[in-house]
Amino acid sequence: MERLQKLIAQYGYTSRRKAEDLIRKKKVMVNGKIITELGTKVDSNDVISIDGIIINKDIKHEYYILNKPRSVVSSVEDNRGRITVVDLINTDARIYPIGRLDYDTTGLILLTNDGDFANTLMHPKFQIEKTYIAKINKILDKDEIHQIKKGILIDNRKVEVRKLKIKNINKEKNTMILELTIIEGRNHIVKKIFNELNIEVLKLSRIGYGFLDIKDLKSGEYRALTIKEIKKLYSLAKNK
Ligand code: URA
Repeated sequence: MERLQKLIAQYGYTSRRKAEDLIRKKKVMVNGKIITELGTKVDSNDVISIDGIIINKDIKHEYYILNKPRSVVSSVEDNRGRITVVDLINTDARIYPIGRLDYDTTGLILLTNDGDFANTLMHPKFQIEKTYIAKINKILDKDEIHQIKKGILIDNRKVEVRKLKIKNINKEKNTMILELTIIEGRNHIVKKIFNELNIEVLKLSRIGYGFLDIKDLKSGEYRALTIKEIKKLYSLAKNK
């Protein structure tokens, strides 16, 4: 279930704020009834109409995988005028990113205009593995490696690290490159793990999301997900 204004925005009809205005103006109906309550919960089976026109009947869903460059915002719009992940994709559909990568993080991000799909993938119970390459400003000692593998506490919850591999050690520069696989969706989670150990993440890139990778995509490139990939992601999620 989603808030009505959020679903209207996800369907691409208008922004969430404008959807709220339409609800206040009594222009929105759900299953034939005028709705005035902003928080009303609906799902994709409910028929939503605005000014008498059904908006969620023939929506063509689009799904993309993008290799996000640095200095791009993971949102639909940016109030500071910076380039967003949506700007990089050539479509008229009102797509949005599924989850976030930081402004300075590169790599794999999915975008869609399918609210059900996005919500399913972002649900905490959908424990999809995300793999990151992190360059840090310290060479970890055994104890630090052990702590990370055991699960660092962030806001009273352990971060489960499924895999931790050392890819490179540069003794001169005192830096290390690691590959780590986590199932977390919390914002800035990789940086927070290292921050707990007073270590700075110098570079971060997401290279894997479940069975998906970005080996075929250069920075800034994207492609549509195949139907097989979409179904596989859905079935992974639904089986949880
Ligand atoms: N963890 C982070 O710290 N940043 C990201 O962009 C993704 C995961």
